[in-house]
Amino acid sequence: MQTRVLGKNGPRTSALGLGCMGMSALYGDTDRAESVATVHAALDAGVTLLDTGDFYGMGHNELLINEALRTTSAAHRERALISVKFGALRTVEGGFTGYDGRPEAVKNFAAYSLQRLGTDHIDIYRIARLDPAVPVEETVGAIAELVTAGHVRHIGLSEVGAETVRKAASVAPVSDLQIEYSLISRGIEDQILPACRELGIGVTAYGVLSRGLISGNWSSQRELSPGDFRSMSPRFSGENLERNLTLVEALRRVADGKGVTVAQTAIAWVLSRGEDIVPLIGARTRERLAESLSALDVTLDADDLDAIEQAVPAGSAAGDRYPAAQMAHLDSEK
Ligand SMILES: NC(=O)c1ccc[n+]([C@@H]2O[C@H](COP(=O)([O-])OP(=O)(O)OC[C@H]3O[C@@H](n4cnc5c(N)ncnc54)[C@H](OP(=O)(O)O)[C@@H]3O)[C@@H](O)[C@H]2O)c1
Repeated sequence: MQTRVLGKNGPRTSALGLGCMGMSALYGDTDRAESVATVHAALDAGVTLLDTGDFYGMGHNELLINEALRTTSAAHRERALISVKFGALRTVEGGFTGYDGRPEAVKNFAAYSLQRLGTDHIDIYRIARLDPAVPVEETVGAIAELVTAGHVRHIGLSEVGAETVRKAASVAPVSDLQIEYSLISRGIEDQILPACRELGIGVTAYGVLSRGLISGNWSSQRELSPGDFRSMSPRFSGENLERNLTLVEALRRVADGKGVTVAQTAIAWVLSRGEDIVPLIGARTRERLAESLSALDVTLDADDLDAIEQAVPAGSAAGDRYPAAQMAHLDSEK
């Protein structure tokens, strides 16, 4: 497995991480046995970075990771790095009502996560969204205290803008910013990525397949359950979806020419953006995982990159990447 280092202060990790969110939430029905088998297959293949959030299925995802790590070999357990997001406030019905980044809340969230994960430390800990009521310095300061106490190894950030990245980094070393980055979500390129590079902060990129939209496996006929994020996503609705799927078909022609899949091409493109970027793969089955991991064998030369750019030019996606209410929580979009 190829490896990359997350920023100048972060850990060395597999070049692709496994995002476990869809195994517990937001993408429809899940299969626990297949989810655990997928985590095991990822570890077997040399993936070391497992990404979760305490609010993914309200603890379900952390308990799933706990089970997967308890039932793998000691060597795999030892190598696994667990990245946890916290801070989301939920309702009984599953809604999201805001974020809590107060220092006492940070320590409370961490205590519950450690218990659910069955570990004595979290490798990377980050608030999922900036709490607008709490200066980021205070939230990061609380995580820094958890680092000093040995409960957390590294401090991460999620979906924040360049200014917030700078404020956070002034308090304590930050390993990586987790943020959406794909062929059709390139917002980080103007200011956020340069700020991370200047400060020696890595990027863990999510939504590399735009939640399946640019995987080459999506179609407008796909039925979605009401709780599925994509049933509310502007990019997956109506004319936007039709437009976005034409981009996928253009990308498919490039992928076909190279004898690889659309998903592999989209992942390889993010990998090609820099050694400081680690894409998170949202695979929920061993089959999808195997397809995605093969992206590591895809080399994109200058002609390939030109062809991809022509197929999916920057800014060509139709629709925002989140519904309006969720866009409002994104410091990275301000
Ligand atoms: N920091 C944040 O704000 C944030 C937000 C969202 C996610 N994340 C993290 O990032 C991770 C990845 O994000 P994501 O789930 O949106 O990523 P993604 O990889 O863009 O999308 C995953 C979806 O793509 C589909 N897919 C189709 N072909 C695939 C293939 N070959 N390999 C993998 N998936 C394929 C999956 O399909 P099926 O439906 O067939 O399973 C799944 O529904 C999450 O698990 C989570 O840990 C972070």
